[in-house]
Amino acid sequence: MRIKTDDGIKDMRAVWREGNIVKMIDQRYLPNELIIFSAKNADDIHMAIKEMVVRGAPCIGVTAAYGMAQAFEKRVDTSEAASKIKSARPTAYDLFYAVDHMQEQVKQGKDPSEAADDYALSVINKCRAIGENGAKMIEDGYNILTHCNAGALATVDHGTALAPMRVGKEQEKNIFVYVDETRPRLQGAKLTAWELYNEDIRHTVIADNAAGHYIQRGHIDMVIVGTDRIAANGDIANKIGTYEKAVVAKENGVPFYVAAPVTTFDPNTESGMDIPIEERDPKEVTIMDGVRVVSPGSNANNPAFDVTPSRYITGYITEKGIYTPDDLEDMFD
Ligand code: MRU
Repeated sequence: MRIKTDDGIKDMRAVWREGNIVKMIDQRYLPNELIIFSAKNADDIHMAIKEMVVRGAPCIGVTAAYGMAQAFEKRVDTSEAASKIKSARPTAYDLFYAVDHMQEQVKQGKDPSEAADDYALSVINKCRAIGENGAKMIEDGYNILTHCNAGALATVDHGTALAPMRVGKEQEKNIFVYVDETRPRLQGAKLTAWELYNEDIRHTVIADNAAGHYIQRGHIDMVIVGTDRIAANGDIANKIGTYEKAVVAKENGVPFYVAAPVTTFDPNTESGMDIPIEERDPKEVTIMDGVRVVSPGSNANNPAFDVTPSRYITGYITEKGIYTPDDLEDMFD
């Protein structure tokens, strides 16, 4: 991803490997500081995923894959490392997929570091293809709404929901992005806006509550979001607040696209209602940037994701092409 720094433009990934150390942009400090976090063992990887040093389903998957490579190389108990890493967050299917994939690869005799590098590269290439497929749906002059951050930070590079916007920009399409701020952790305001600023893609941040207003007034031509898991029936889990955007989009005849690599599809989870939804610390709601914003004595609830039923989804933008809820099974042909 392109990052503007005081020393000029840098091209960085969200997570990478330097020998046996897993390095990642510490997303907790963006957009104000570009700090690199180094993970040296499975405990560090677990912490980095749980505390959201890295976040976003594909990026969590790649971090887990590098963490598993590290465990194999260090010859520690890899089943223990696998359970520890998998327990970091419950919703993103990529986390479980990546850990199982690494165990399988090593069982088949593949070098662990090489397997993790290949996995990271495959995610990057898939995201690029998602960008190219998704850009076909973007017309010159489009206003696009997105929720949370499904950009390069969430996927190592390019992004899922943001990849079609990056490719659209390369194709010199004049696009404008409405970015939901995405309470409580503000991934939209802090991360998506930062990525779009770095890519010189025109955008504005809106309060989460404003999205319906802009959709209703005809300001939005399409919605593109990412997802943490696609259930067998096509329902998706994504950042809390996605569901209501999808309902309002359908009500107003605005297409609602979900961008994800095929590996986010979980054939073993029948419907969206079976997807485990992470409950995070209420302090993420009550305290913002160190300041309590909720009245003393009041509690808060903090579900991190919600489920959007497939009937609200116009299409799934994948590396293999774009599928509707009715032809989703063709994704595996
Ligand atoms: O809690 P987060 O920040 O990990 O949630 C991220 C999202 O909801 C993303 O939209 C999803 O993981 C897809 S990332 C390409």
